[in-house]
Amino acid sequence: MSASSPHSLPGLYIHIPFCLSRCGYCAFVSGIYDAGLADAYLAALRREWAARAAGSVRFGTIFIGGGTPSCLSMRQVETLLSMLPQGCLEATCEVNPDTATKEKLRLLRDGGIDRISFGVQTFSPEGLRLLGRRHDAAAALRAVDWAGEIGFPGGVSIDLINGWPGQDDAVLRADIATATGLQIQHISYYNFILEETASGYTRYVPLCSGEESGEEDAENKEDERGRRFWDSVEAGLEEKGFLHYETSNFARPGFACRHNVSIWKGGEYLGLGAGAHSHLEGRRFANCDAVEQYVRQSGVPQEIESFSERLAGEAKARECAVFWLRLFEGVELTEFAEQTGCDFRDLYKDELPKLLSDGVMEMENGRIRVPRRHQPLLDMILTELA
Ligand SMILES: C[S@@+](CC[C@H](N)C(=O)[O-])C[C@H]1O[C@@H](n2cnc3c(N)ncnc32)[C@H](O)[C@@H]1O
Ligand code: SF4
Repeated sequence: MSASSPHSLPGLYIHIPFCLSRCGYCAFVSGIYDAGLADAYLAALRREWAARAAGSVRFGTIFIGGGTPSCLSMRQVETLLSMLPQGCLEATCEVNPDTATKEKLRLLRDGGIDRISFGVQTFSPEGLRLLGRRHDAAAALRAVDWAGEIGFPGGVSIDLINGWPGQDDAVLRADIATATGLQIQHISYYNFILEETASGYTRYVPLCSGEESGEEDAENKEDERGRRFWDSVEAGLEEKGFLHYETSNFARPGFACRHNVSIWKGGEYLGLGAGAHSHLEGRRFANCDAVEQYVRQSGVPQEIESFSERLAGEAKARECAVFWLRLFEGVELTEFAEQTGCDFRDLYKDELPKLLSDGVMEMENGRIRVPRRHQPLLDMILTELA
């Protein structure tokens, strides 16, 4: 499958920083939903949109993420949809099965959303409890069915988590079997990550053997479990026609997430909302995480930016290469030169000969990639190329 760049237009990301409750493992920028604050936030989004872009920039893809966009009321979803630019190639919205209703999914589809991404995490009742999810497996299955009935031409995706504390081989196999039996086109399978800012950090640490315990033996066992689980995920999904196209992402042919693929290839995007990141007109910048500050100041974008940098020349090209190599199809050399103005082989003339002769990278048909057998080392290889 080719995850080729759909176009050169930037993507639009909109962050909705509200959830009905926080899952213990999650460190994303989000707080508890409050109807009044959400109304004020939507008005603030409109102000940021007007100040940054409205009318002057065309967008190729849209991704509404969070937090939980689906925890907004029907009226608030309508307000959000009314802001979206028309005529994009793909428009995704993240939905939590707990706040999915048939009516809300239909409203999203009729308002221009053509791709849905459900946060499922696992189908195991123990797992859902341990992760602090509000829904059961039946709610997730029902939501996926509704999305299928309503019809989202860009595809239906689910997020699953691999390696949560206490998950065993049998539970993992059951999740893979259930997921691959659904009428969906895309699966994001994330490795469980425990950050100190997650609300359940202290609760999970004692349950995680290995890294957090600091004991070498336990750490080795945890690594071994991680590799075994990941092999099961990849084999189980590929066997059922979901091709592994990026570290954490699998899709049926033609259903890779265009918005993310474009970003991994160094494409530009505008992020609106608290905590949103952007890469536009050669500049990378991020908005403040604090929702109240965002609501007060979003009409003056300089006031809400917590970070801004302009990368140029080689530094920018290296950054682009590191993102792009996450795609298993690898870097297409001509496209890379067009995108960055740099020749990949010149850029890495010191590192590339050894990486190629060691087989850590391979070059074929005008592409350079990290071969599958070395994907577990990807982060290490990319650090060397950054
Ligand atoms: C914004 S949420 C998805 C939408 C919605 N909020 C929900 O949870 O249903 C994005 C996804 O990130 C993943 N995620 C969040 N925190 C994670 C963590 N600590 N480790 C692994 N995956 C995580 C989950 O799979 C989650 O579905
Ligand atoms: S996983 Fe989703 S629902 Fe849970 S806290 Fe994070 S953003 Fe909210």
